[in-house]
Amino acid sequence: MLNFVVISGSGRPQSESARVGEYIRQRLIDLQLSDDSNCSLIDLGTSPLPLWPERNDGLWHDYATRLQAANALIVITPEWHGMASPALKNLFILASKEELAHKPALLVGVSSGLGGSYPISELRSSSFKNNRLCYIPEQLIVRHVNSMLHPDPVIDDNDRRLRPRIDYALGVLGHYATALRTVQAAVDMSNSEFANGM
Ligand SMILES: Cc1cc2nc3c(=O)[nH]c(=O)nc-3n(C[C@H](O)[C@H](O)[C@H](O)COP(=O)(O)O)c2cc1C
Repeated sequence: MLNFVVISGSGRPQSESARVGEYIRQRLIDLQLSDDSNCSLIDLGTSPLPLWPERNDGLWHDYATRLQAANALIVITPEWHGMASPALKNLFILASKEELAHKPALLVGVSSGLGGSYPISELRSSSFKNNRLCYIPEQLIVRHVNSMLHPDPVIDDNDRRLRPRIDYALGVLGHYATALRTVQAAVDMSNSEFANGM
């Protein structure tokens, strides 16, 4: 059984990103890629980490333990003024290779309009250097999020098209999760000469 952590990067309580995160968590269970006890949601809106370098050791310990146990991540970011959410960037300042090295992650951009791609590009270019998180080529963009992925009925063609794509991307992520276990076991991450990436 694979272990997944879904991270909702929105700093807003009751965010659409968290709703999408819960939808994805449930799909992982329904698709039998995981089960309820091996699949959790970190909601940075309802349980926020303080802005680094302030600390909440108890909360961070909980998140770090869950990330260490994960075989794969789903990283969800709203688009805010064309950027990835600051709560997510803050988490990536705290998280290191101890928690994330050589684990696959599926990126999900969320927008109430037609955005959602900029934060994916941003995270692909800047968030993995030292922690060695591996973003897979599949990615998801939930546009017009307010009307998408609600319990029945499916409201339009975009909603109808997105749901099987989410299932497909989660299946691909599952294959990476299995395959990259070999890489995690093989790479010596204790070599201090290469502690940080270039
Ligand atoms: C400060 C702020 C800036 C935003 N900027 C953008 C943007 O640049 N592009 C966009 O598509 N949506 C933008 N939105 C709208 C979000 O897409 C919308 O709030 C959506 O629900 C995702 O955010 P949430 O997960 O916090 O709900 C912005 C929202 C906020 C609060």
